[in-house]
Amino acid sequence: MARVLSLFTFLFLGFLGLISFPAEAAIKKYQFDIQVKNVSRLCHAKPIVTVNGRFPGPTIYVREGDRVLVNVTNHAQYNMSIHWHGIKQYRNGWADGPAYITQCPIQTGSSYTYDFNVTGQRGTLWWHAHILWLRATVYGAIVIMPNQGTPFPFPQPNREVEILLGEWWHSDVEEVVKEGTNMGLPPNMSDAHTINGKPGPLFPCAEKHTFVMEVELGKTYLLRIINSALNDELFFAIAGHNMTVVEVDAVYTKPFTTSAILIAPGQTTNVLVQANQIPGRYFMATRPFMDAPLSIDNRTATAILQYKGIPNTVLPTLPQLPLSNDTEFAISYNKKLRSLNSPKYPANVPLKVDRNLFYTIGFGKNSCPTCVNGTKLIASLNNISFVMPQIALLQAHFSNIKGVYRADFPDKPPTPFNYTGAPLTANLGTSTGTRVSKIAFNSTVELVLQDTNLLTVESHPFHLHGYNFFVVGTGIGNFDPAKDPAKYNLVDPMERNTVGVPTGGWTAIRFRADNPGVWFMHCHLELHTGWGLKTAFVVEDGPGQDQSVLPPPKDLPPC
Ligand code: C2O
Repeated sequence: MARVLSLFTFLFLGFLGLISFPAEAAIKKYQFDIQVKNVSRLCHAKPIVTVNGRFPGPTIYVREGDRVLVNVTNHAQYNMSIHWHGIKQYRNGWADGPAYITQCPIQTGSSYTYDFNVTGQRGTLWWHAHILWLRATVYGAIVIMPNQGTPFPFPQPNREVEILLGEWWHSDVEEVVKEGTNMGLPPNMSDAHTINGKPGPLFPCAEKHTFVMEVELGKTYLLRIINSALNDELFFAIAGHNMTVVEVDAVYTKPFTTSAILIAPGQTTNVLVQANQIPGRYFMATRPFMDAPLSIDNRTATAILQYKGIPNTVLPTLPQLPLSNDTEFAISYNKKLRSLNSPKYPANVPLKVDRNLFYTIGFGKNSCPTCVNGTKLIASLNNISFVMPQIALLQAHFSNIKGVYRADFPDKPPTPFNYTGAPLTANLGTSTGTRVSKIAFNSTVELVLQDTNLLTVESHPFHLHGYNFFVVGTGIGNFDPAKDPAKYNLVDPMERNTVGVPTGGWTAIRFRADNPGVWFMHCHLELHTGWGLKTAFVVEDGPGQDQSVLPPPKDLPPC
């Protein structure tokens, strides 16, 4: 009898092991110490701000459904705040992190615990400093595993590897920025690109500073690629190996195979790579995409994909990256990105729009007597260049503090013009202000972002906090409200948190405003954010019990 029972128990437990349990919500705790550390690259050491002395910073590993507690203690001389880029933070803007939008910064010697749930998302996201240009060195990956027992909707990889693309400056980045601001000009561009913090052997003193990924013949690898560069949209390719894109911004895609990917600052891309070539050493390489007449750090960073057993003496081959100004590649690549839209992972695109917004993106020059040309460069949405407040907008909204912001951001530019015609140098009455748009709870919003030729056209990766949105349409030239909406993809558009507005073109996104709070929206090129290319949405509370902003945590940094 006992034997029968134990056999039964054995079978039962074996069965339990096979079925999938609803997520057993775990608490994942991390300690982030913000500390300055000397780091050497390109034959030259300098102090940089880091998390726990690491560059790039530590990866946050969680499972869908987990609660995450990250206690950030600031030991550096700079004020700090950390943003969990792409985490939706339902009702919980207090844990979102953009300085002066959802919280005041964590001061030197102080701590703050970011406390949030990871719900309804799985894939690769990332975290980064969200104050000044400190994210140049303060960034890391967030890996969200699907629920226990839920496989990926693509072939299961043998191993997963995070690939963080970045930029490196010889000098102290904050000094470089200050210099630029004082002159009213763009600060010096970066001196190198990096892969997992390392520039690779096309740069001097690379021996220790090359990232090597070892692979075994016949195995499949999931690369979690993150563009953590400040200002450069990047191509990425691996010599001799195709990549199959399966996810972007923690949303599954319809898989497609490509020889190179394009990834803008803020975006993430998961690809499957099969080690199915002649065993050897192959370069992975990354270099910017820039199709506007602007100069940029066009240096190529490399890392090495190395088959097991191949000696380091074998010279790797370089992949063929698209040309720097290959607009065609960019357009056709972005067109391939579609949501998986399966029964399990549907694309719930809003089909009816309650609120139509049309924002123009422009550059301008404001007077600046102390600057080199007597002017300084600024950037604006609908001719408004955003000014950072002194008190966090979310606190002002939650506690009804008057005078911090104006909720009258216009739904349209003041005067329509030929946005993408001949270059315009006139300053179109650009004003400055802390102006945001108020959005009714649960309303559906369509936002068309229109690039303009004010000073110059350029592509802009726009990021919305607190939400994913659907990229329903995009085009070159001026958006035509009579004709373009008919061409929208309302079936399987890509759902994501950061999208590129093409050079001299437009992009239309839709989302349902079901997350109450104050949510930052900005160009993810740090240069443009700093010039004012940003605003925020104040999404009102809903009538339901669980539809209002949560009360702030006790340790929220004081303003
Ligand atoms: Cu990744 Cu507001 O930024």
